[in-house]
Amino acid sequence: MILLAHVSDLHLDGGERAARRAARVFDHLDGLRRPVDAILVTGDIADHGLPQEYEEAAKLFSGRDRLFHCPGNHDRRPAYRAVLLGDPSGTDGPINSVHRLDGGPAFLLCDSSIPGRPDGILADETLDWIRETLTGLPDDVPTFVAFHHPPVILHQPYIDDIRLAAAERLTELLGGFPQVIAVLTGHAHTAAASMFAGRPLLVGPGVVSTLLLPWESERVVDLELPPGLAFHVLDDDRRLTTHYRVT
Ligand SMILES: [Fe+2]
Ligand SMILES: [Fe+2]
Repeated sequence: MILLAHVSDLHLDGGERAARRAARVFDHLDGLRRPVDAILVTGDIADHGLPQEYEEAAKLFSGRDRLFHCPGNHDRRPAYRAVLLGDPSGTDGPINSVHRLDGGPAFLLCDSSIPGRPDGILADETLDWIRETLTGLPDDVPTFVAFHHPPVILHQPYIDDIRLAAAERLTELLGGFPQVIAVLTGHAHTAAASMFAGRPLLVGPGVVSTLLLPWESERVVDLELPPGLAFHVLDDDRRLTTHYRVT
């Protein structure tokens, strides 16, 4: 079996509160009896996209060679590239990457952010990259597609208004690639599970805060509920099980 940790929305801002909550999640991972095979971070790593916020993230991520990440709407591509990817070019195109575990699953970490905006879209360039990358992988490799913005409504108007636009384009694309077994996102700051394109859509809870639901409160965000993460377990027969955990 393959054990994955899915962490999202750290919103590191140089402050003690976000740092403490992120440390709780990573300490939980470091204390496991069996280490995870990979850690996936689905965006909003920094709160303001500042270089010093990415320096903080780099320290948290250091020594974790199978930690894969993508940007969210709070991230800023040039600083993200410079600090987390060692690319000082200042280019502002989407940040997409593919990773494969030895003899195991593949992960596409895609950029759904739109610079300067809270909502998201998979740009033409990114959709083309997803198609080319999936085509280039053996079709018997179980594959996860991860990005920041949920492509469906989650029944919370605040977050539904800033979800992924034009999601039907991804639905159509994934129709040709049955090896994609799940779609993973963040952004909603709530542990949620739905369906998208006939696959599980699994939303990682927010580390920095928790989204409140309309039937729970008139407030949108709770800062006191504990930080969470998801464990995704992939069986040898490709069945996926998700456990949500607070730390
Ligand atoms: Fe966020
Ligand atoms: Fe976000």
